[in-house]
Amino acid sequence: MDWDLQEAVAYHKAQGAPGAHSAVVALLKEAQAACGGALSPAVVGQLAQGLGVKDSFLLAVVKRTPSLRLEGKHLLQLCAGPNCGRRTDLERLARSLADPKTVTVELTGCMRLCGKGPNLRYDGRLYHAADEALLRQLLGKEERS
Ligand code: FES
Repeated sequence: MDWDLQEAVAYHKAQGAPGAHSAVVALLKEAQAACGGALSPAVVGQLAQGLGVKDSFLLAVVKRTPSLRLEGKHLLQLCAGPNCGRRTDLERLARSLADPKTVTVELTGCMRLCGKGPNLRYDGRLYHAADEALLRQLLGKEERS
């Protein structure tokens, strides 16, 4: 990896991290990109140490920032736009099916494909006409008859 964690920490500290939320998020996004799209607990720990904060502080920022993601966790994004959100109650079902230890469920704004909705993304892949069967398939909870 060409990315230098200590150099990145120093740069974002100069931008106001850890006091400035935007600088912390920018650092985490940079680290995530350098790590191939997801943050490992080890990298979060090193960033926390570099910033002089607890790991739990950075993990809370990751949890509250939709574009950030921890390694090993799937990301299920449900469109909650005016069309998709009105047509189904996928959020309630998703939250009841998904194991919070392995899947992050979040709502997004309109995915701009209203005609094909309800839409969702699972680990970045877009699915149209989402329904209960698709959710069960993605989350590995197919019903057996
Ligand atoms: S409301 Fe879901 S794509 Fe527009």
